[in-house]
Amino acid sequence: MYDQTYAVSVKPPVSPVAPGLERPKQPTMSQAPFARGLHWLHLPDANTVAQQAAAIVAEQLAQKPSASIVFPTGNTPLGMYAQLRQRNDINWEKSRLFQLDEYVRPEFDGPLPYQTFADFMQNELWRFVGGQKFYMAQYFECPAAYEALITQNQGPDLVILGIGKNGHIAFNEPGSQPDSPSRIVALAPLTRMSNFADPTQPGLPTQAITLGLKAILGARHILMLATGAGKQDIVATAFHPQTPPDINCPASWLKQHPNVTLLTDF
Ligand code: GLP
Repeated sequence: MYDQTYAVSVKPPVSPVAPGLERPKQPTMSQAPFARGLHWLHLPDANTVAQQAAAIVAEQLAQKPSASIVFPTGNTPLGMYAQLRQRNDINWEKSRLFQLDEYVRPEFDGPLPYQTFADFMQNELWRFVGGQKFYMAQYFECPAAYEALITQNQGPDLVILGIGKNGHIAFNEPGSQPDSPSRIVALAPLTRMSNFADPTQPGLPTQAITLGLKAILGARHILMLATGAGKQDIVATAFHPQTPPDINCPASWLKQHPNVTLLTDF
């Protein structure tokens, strides 16, 4: 494991420090040469991660009601979406809400054997809140146009991410360069195994459209959520303060960003 003195508190909130204990120090250059913009908050459990993530979204919209926010799918953000659905103190009316990625629908007759990410976003959050919603499915032919939509809306202000077990962010799989554009990608075998109960079932996607690393790294603020023991190793690899970013672990490029908040329950 890496040096725990690297842990720093996110602002806000700043948790009170018990008498006799010192607040963790901001890492010095020698401690963290490759992760200077990272605020890593080690939280006690997944529920606290969800609450804190929802508080960051609320704070973003309080500061800028017309913020452009990019939302992820997956199991990890479900708690955050539950928290956001419960909060009645957020004004979403001027917000611009974007998808992070979407499966490319395969040629297949019959009902889809998977949930599209548009349906996921709709069910988890978007049908409960106001604001302008931008879906990716009509951009398979021209992913750059979706990316342009975000920049035309002065975004992204906030990109929220999970992390794949192979270090992918959105669907930027290992091998992705930090300047990679939004594009159609082939899903890595490990990603299909993680996302589908039976990846050999007919009708499941083999490709996806993803926001590229360049657009993600162009966000003013990046919020990554990682919970559960299964994510501990890949997070430690991605954010190791002494090793440079590496194309084999796309999440490690976040170490080059000036404003990343990482919320974990480990
Ligand atoms: C998918 C998504 C990612 C997500 C990842 C992890 O592949 N494209 O955006 O971060 O899964 O999902 P989970 O949170 O279920 O582990």
